[in-house]
Amino acid sequence: MALSEISAPKKLGKVRPHQTQNEALLFEKSSPGKKAYKLPPLDVPGVDAAALLGDAHRKTPGLLPELSEIELIRHFTRLSTWNYAIDLGMYPLGSCTMKYNPRVNEFVARIEGLAEAHPYRPESLAQGILEIIDLLQKCLIEITGMDAITLQPAAGAHGEFTGILLVRAWHESQGNPRHKVLIPDSAHGTNPATAAICGYQVENLKSNADGGIDLDALERQVTDDTAALMLTNPSTLGVFESQIAKIAEILHAKGALLYMDGANMNALVGKVRPGDFGVDVMHLNLHKTFSTPHGGGGPGSGPVACKKFLEPFLPTPVLVRGNKGTREQGNENAGTKGLGTRDSGTEAGELHWDYDRPRSVGRVRAFYGNTGMFIRALAYILANGPDGLRQTTEDAVLNANYIRKKLEDLYELPYKTPSMHEVVFSDKRQAALGVKTGDIAKRLIDYGFHPYTVSFPLIVHGALMIEPTESESVEELDLFIDAMRSIAREVEETPELVKSAPHSTRVSRLDEVQAARKPVLRWRPEKQGLGTRD
Ligand SMILES: Cc1ncc(COP(=O)(O)O)c(C=O)c1O
Repeated sequence: MALSEISAPKKLGKVRPHQTQNEALLFEKSSPGKKAYKLPPLDVPGVDAAALLGDAHRKTPGLLPELSEIELIRHFTRLSTWNYAIDLGMYPLGSCTMKYNPRVNEFVARIEGLAEAHPYRPESLAQGILEIIDLLQKCLIEITGMDAITLQPAAGAHGEFTGILLVRAWHESQGNPRHKVLIPDSAHGTNPATAAICGYQVENLKSNADGGIDLDALERQVTDDTAALMLTNPSTLGVFESQIAKIAEILHAKGALLYMDGANMNALVGKVRPGDFGVDVMHLNLHKTFSTPHGGGGPGSGPVACKKFLEPFLPTPVLVRGNKGTREQGNENAGTKGLGTRDSGTEAGELHWDYDRPRSVGRVRAFYGNTGMFIRALAYILANGPDGLRQTTEDAVLNANYIRKKLEDLYELPYKTPSMHEVVFSDKRQAALGVKTGDIAKRLIDYGFHPYTVSFPLIVHGALMIEPTESESVEELDLFIDAMRSIAREVEETPELVKSAPHSTRVSRLDEVQAARKPVLRWRPEKQGLGTRD
């Protein structure tokens, strides 16, 4: 049978867009004189731009594409159909928690008074949005079991950076910043990068056979020079660190701190609180756990929560309640202040920013972080309530385990420890037939799914890292399972079909290394109306 005859999976079960396979660039579609706009007649006195601008006046107009409005709309609409999105189907990209972004979040974030709140609005006129920030802080403190928080960091890795700066500041205040940060081999890749960027030497901790921390190795490795252990929990294997309280004890006995990468809190919210099991400082990814848009739809948000003794070091400013009386006027840090600038005094009980924090690590973000994401995350938390959040966690874990159970006869499970929010298989059986995890991931595209995560975690060779999240119904999970089972069959019967996938996309196998190292992003005109891509 020809490859083309068998390339479309027989039992597709998924809706797909009609793909225009050869959408040209706007420049290539351009024809002189076309316009996508029509301006009204000038109703103000005209000016001589050349006289006004002098040398800066451009003699020849820039080369821009000329198209009609419908051509423009169709171009971008067609391009948008090449994207995969959580609103189209399951997005099981492990470690990314690609959950549905509920519409209620968007509804609330678009309320005029919130969407248009200006960052320079005086504090006394910004009380509404400051209350939102305050309530979100309280909710996240309650969820994590910590004592204090900053919402400034703009992403998970930025949160890690902020958290490790707090660790450093604390050790410095004790007279010695120390030199080492311990990081297990099951940690997220940003953890060692963070420690290094904060000036620490990274020391690797080997996982045991269950994917957890080897306590004997930890006892041996923690010294008076260890600043902290950075622990991704649950780890990138989707495994909860069951010895966490003991780990905290070992670290604390040597004066070292426990940093928890809490980006995987989707497995823990409403069930356990890091503050209760010995964590000193942690970050959250609002764009993972708390359903704010992820990736291209961002921006992200990576709040950092900490215990009381680290609070003095939190980034400035810190939100506080109470009348500070008449405070200093003016705005010496214009351009970097949080929502609401200092004004002549908020009323008793109102919220204001406290900049007077002599031990603070300083500001880590302009204004006060990505405020639009705070509104969305709070909407999500309040819409779910405590029981809903707990249910969310249970469903996320249930969905990962459902997939695990339904696929473990066909795909190798390198760690048998119970799975939390994600399940990590390996391609061991398929690789023996010459098909790798990347091939299977690309074949999934033909079945209408976004691929799972490949090449990660590093301790699983040929990883298939699958995180369904709680968003998926059993019907969607079953479609995914059918696809994965069908691909496992194809690997045995028609391996070339899988190795050359995807077959249903505009382009198939790209040179990914070349694309990353030498991206071609610019179109260079040669002469009017014609162009080349360079
Ligand atoms: C466990 C973990 N830690 C840290 C990060 C980094 O977060 P960000 O991509 O927002 O910087 C991620 C990202 O998904 C993650 O999964």
